[in-house]
Amino acid sequence: MSDSLYVRLGGAEGIAKIVDDIWINHTSNPKVKQRYTKSDPENVKRLVREFFGAGIGGPETYTGQDMLTAHTGMNINDEEFVAVCDDVLSALAKNNVGQKEKDEVLCILYSMKGDIVGV
Ligand code: HEM
Repeated sequence: MSDSLYVRLGGAEGIAKIVDDIWINHTSNPKVKQRYTKSDPENVKRLVREFFGAGIGGPETYTGQDMLTAHTGMNINDEEFVAVCDDVLSALAKNNVGQKEKDEVLCILYSMKGDIVGV
């Protein structure tokens, strides 16, 4: 059996670096940075590490809200959703993640679009 996506992204350590870079990208991306001005970076990064880890084969337990509850009322649009996906792909590229893994992550992100955009 092939390694889980968790292992292929470098486990907890690799994912922590990727999540740090996603945060840097979001908070410097003019299309979405205003969304995160009131956020506590360490708390959001912890939740995202837990969420991805738990979803891709890691030992983490996710302690945050489900995606629909977390994003309801934000009225996020398609352009912002694409911007966030681009930020994630850039962070993966920066951390030398392969194309197959990038494709897998993008599919996972896209599968959540209905719980995040326009809710
Ligand atoms: C598939 C894509 C996305 C995933 C996997 C995702 C994941 C998450 C997670 C795990 C949380 C924490 C939930 C909690 O607080 O319990 C969160 C919160 C949040 N998300 Fe997303 N998100 C996505 C897309 C977006 C988009 C497109 C935007 C808008 C630009 C956005 C803006 C936010 C904001 C503003 C918060 C609250 C941060 C805070 O509590 O300070 N998200 N998201």
